[in-house]
Amino acid sequence: MTDNKFKNILITGASTGIGRQLALDYGKVGAKLWLLARSEQNLRTLATEINASGGEAHILVCDATIEKDFLESLNTAQVESTGFDLVIANAGWGGKMSYPGEKNIEVLNRIIDLNLRAATQTLEFFARYMVEARKGHLVGVSSIAGFRGIPSGAAYSATKAGLISYLESLRFSVQPFGIHVTDIRPGWVRTHLTDQNNFPMPFLMDVDRASYKIRRALDRGRKRFTFPWQMAILVHLITAMPDFIYDWLGTKLYGKLVVLGRGAKSLKNNPG
Ligand SMILES: NC(=O)c1ccc[n+]([C@@H]2O[C@H](COP(=O)([O-])OP(=O)(O)OC[C@H]3O[C@@H](n4cnc5c(N)ncnc54)[C@H](OP(=O)(O)O)[C@@H]3O)[C@@H](O)[C@H]2O)c1
Repeated sequence: MTDNKFKNILITGASTGIGRQLALDYGKVGAKLWLLARSEQNLRTLATEINASGGEAHILVCDATIEKDFLESLNTAQVESTGFDLVIANAGWGGKMSYPGEKNIEVLNRIIDLNLRAATQTLEFFARYMVEARKGHLVGVSSIAGFRGIPSGAAYSATKAGLISYLESLRFSVQPFGIHVTDIRPGWVRTHLTDQNNFPMPFLMDVDRASYKIRRALDRGRKRFTFPWQMAILVHLITAMPDFIYDWLGTKLYGKLVVLGRGAKSLKNNPG
């Protein structure tokens, strides 16, 4: 892997989890990083670590769902960096819906605003500059949850399905100008997002391993990358599965396990 292929990198959702690990790993090979999230303290600690390891970190403390602040932060990053080689729209929230649930609309709006609106705004904002420069790599972190509707994750699934479609369309528009677009579709990775889950998560992966796999996929210019490979096979089978079998699995098996069974604790509406 030629980890230093990308010199100037912007990552949203960099304060914890996958984004944080990517930032640390790219920092170690000397990248200049612009890191966006809401938690200033986490970002400051991360920046100190990156600066000490040979990278250069700039922090952007911002709520990506507040459009004006968010676009201003992206603009600041664009001006300071004089252009990015790699932009990773990673910020996301897994907020669950429960039924009956008086907070479902609130959860729904926040998930759409972050996982779909802010993610696509990030990519759209930088697509313009990359197209003008005729170089760059745009990355969205979607999910295996975007392949089919998952039980208890209606809003999450919908936003990730939307992001998958957006990335595919965007690729057709910007590829002729030499811009790469990659759709990263993780299975389960051990982060804050999965810490709340109280149901079995097959092939759960540590975040440093996930970062390695993502960086390798970007290095290779992959258009889509679903991992781990066991999950990639499983979701492709599920996608090809006749509706009546998926309905049976969703209702009888996974739905009962997650909605009514061992995972019931994870379904509390907590928009955070
Ligand atoms: N972990 C998994 O198994 C898994 C599987 C599939 C897909 N994914 C996707 O991977 C991405 C990263 O998730 P993760 O697992 O690393 O979760 P995580 O540890 O919870 O990280 C989420 C990041 O998003 C940031 N964020 C949340 N709300 C924000 C807001 N309003 N404005 C700006 N930043 C915000 C968080 O920082 P602040 O709280 O400091 O703002 C944090 O840095 C997400 O898009 C997620 O959907 C994860």
